[in-house]
Amino acid sequence: MTNILIIHGPNLNLLGEREPEVYGSTTLFQLNQMLGQNARDLGVELKFFQNNSEGKIIDFIHKYRIWARAMIINPGALTHYSYALRDAIASVAKPTIEVHLSDIHKREPFRKVSVIKDVCIDQIVGLGIQSYFKALEKLVTHLRETP
Ligand code: DQA
Repeated sequence: MTNILIIHGPNLNLLGEREPEVYGSTTLFQLNQMLGQNARDLGVELKFFQNNSEGKIIDFIHKYRIWARAMIINPGALTHYSYALRDAIASVAKPTIEVHLSDIHKREPFRKVSVIKDVCIDQIVGLGIQSYFKALEKLVTHLRETP
């Protein structure tokens, strides 16, 4: 079985209720359920994690580095400044896709910068929850093409 981590960063626990005009009305629970169903169809296994603390997210990445073959991460605002998270992703050396619900390139200037991007194989933005589904599809294709 192909094991993939799905990591949601700070404030994404409030998905559905937080600025729905920007992030949509689907809750994190609903999103994870839908991703789980999609993963079963694709024949991969997901482990979900959300946390508001940078260090807890880094600990989770370390803890599951042997279990996981790849990662999808929405780092929330950590995207824009967390070199520690960037180093964690680089340290475990797994194919990782960065996702964002909103289009970070069309918002405030500080959001245009991602310090995570260069340690990821792709960045998918602006598709709402579809950003995650597209990332999963791309990652599974990538893993199938990479022995
Ligand atoms: C976000 C974009 C970030 O700038 C923001 O801090 C978030 C959510 C997104 O999914 O669009 O928390 O990552």
